[in-house]
Amino acid sequence: MFNRIGVIGAGAMGRGIAQLFASSGQQVLLFDTRAEAIEDALAFNRNLLQRQLAKGKLSEAEFEATCARMQPAAALTDLKDCDLVIEAIVEILEVKQKLFADLEAIVSEGCLLATNTSSLSVTRIAAGCSRPERVAGFHFFNPVPLMKIVEVVRGSRTDERYIKGLVELAEKAGHFPAITPDTPGFLVNHAGRAFGTEALRMLSEGVATVQQIDRILRDGPGFRMGPFELFDLTGLDVSHAVMESVYEQFYHDPRYTPSFIAGQRVAAGLLGRKTSQGFYRYEDGQKIEQPEPAVGSVLLSRPYWLQSDDEALRNQVAQVLANAGATLETGEQPSAEAICLITPLGEDCTAALTRLGLPAERTLALDSFASWDKRRTLMRQPAADADVVAQARQALGADGVPVEVINDSPGFVIQRLIASVVNLGCEIAQKGIATPDTLDRAIQLALGYPKGPLGFGEHYGKQAVLTVLNNMQAVYGEPRYRPSPWLRRRVQLGLPLTTPDFQE
Ligand code: NAI
Repeated sequence: MFNRIGVIGAGAMGRGIAQLFASSGQQVLLFDTRAEAIEDALAFNRNLLQRQLAKGKLSEAEFEATCARMQPAAALTDLKDCDLVIEAIVEILEVKQKLFADLEAIVSEGCLLATNTSSLSVTRIAAGCSRPERVAGFHFFNPVPLMKIVEVVRGSRTDERYIKGLVELAEKAGHFPAITPDTPGFLVNHAGRAFGTEALRMLSEGVATVQQIDRILRDGPGFRMGPFELFDLTGLDVSHAVMESVYEQFYHDPRYTPSFIAGQRVAAGLLGRKTSQGFYRYEDGQKIEQPEPAVGSVLLSRPYWLQSDDEALRNQVAQVLANAGATLETGEQPSAEAICLITPLGEDCTAALTRLGLPAERTLALDSFASWDKRRTLMRQPAADADVVAQARQALGADGVPVEVINDSPGFVIQRLIASVVNLGCEIAQKGIATPDTLDRAIQLALGYPKGPLGFGEHYGKQAVLTVLNNMQAVYGEPRYRPSPWLRRRVQLGLPLTTPDFQE
């Protein structure tokens, strides 16, 4: 459907889009109001392709043909024969509307006008056009050739024919087209909100340090980067603007509440790698790694009692305690000396020990969502005895696996973060923003999560996730954690989270 593509804006995104389609066989015309930006982009792309040639990934003939398919456009009117124009210019609604209005006077009737906007409404951009049905979103990720996903955004009046055309074009170029309606943040920037905002929420409550939260989330669920490492990479100014924009556009739904911490750090210029200081410090672009704090040695004098029906966990705990020379009691109730370990879901240690009637000075909580072999999380509460905490940390790490000691938190670190990711994914499915399969695939490709939100729900157990959310909602008394009906219904009906809603 699209053979001649105009790309407007020759910055980071435009040049990547040009390279992607030239590589997949389309003629590309690149335009920018700054002629030098076009030259730079073409030279940049030629250089990249040259490297592929040097590595033997491209033949000499393919290299020459691909470069020849990317041509500069001296004026906007040069795009008159294009059947698709993709804009990747500044992120300002009025500027994009004016560009599309100008283009309507130049291009043919059937030419599709696509926007690479990441935060503006496609429908609003289209509203400035005389033929809004030929306007759609085509939202790529940076760097375009390597990030194998593009959101195909359907505006309120976009003709379905064009959506189909964009899907075919993306597939031909080797990108996964994630079809999504025009909603705030589209699919990926919406689903990605839970990870950062929940981490900031934990930090603001003094649950754990930046380093601890990042370590726990890398080693447990297996995120490639912790949320604070990711903020530093993206730039906190960019991430905070997205958090605020999504929050505003959803009329202050508390699920999306941004954090004052981020706003303040942006004002202070603590943006991350680009300012050499964010949540971490950087020298010559390299993160300065801080060693994990050393743990002092204490005398182990107490037995342990574990409140859990999980046989596998009981065995694991008993084994590590045996390594430490400590014992795990088997009685229904703890002895008068025992350190009591509890395994709450979504309750904080205080709420759970109170409910169970356990002694506060010697009761601690262990996260059952943590990966036992990689990193354990032990949660204390304000009344815990310092020697009890020190003994438990040492005993539970007797096999060399690190033990993070964190402050009281409904849902530790992993439970509450995973539950937030799963719940938001379920809301997205419920609102028809993506089909279940598209949702999980898009999030893995765009955000690099080891599983999609629904996949995480199945991995940790959807019933457990629902319990975490219900308890968090009760402990905090906040609608932020209210479970999505999508999640609740599938738990109650015993159906996979990927089950679509009933359809005729
Ligand atoms: P950039 O600043 O690197 O490049 C923008 C280019 O557009 C500049 O070369 C500028 O001279 C040109 N330009 C500005 N106004 C123009 C106009 N009226 N007509 C023609 N050219 C004009 O920006 P970047 O990062 O490439 O972003 C472009 C668009 O893509 C924005 O809408 C942005 O929100 C979106 N986007 C950016 C992503 C990113 O990671 N950088 C990711 C996804 C979308």
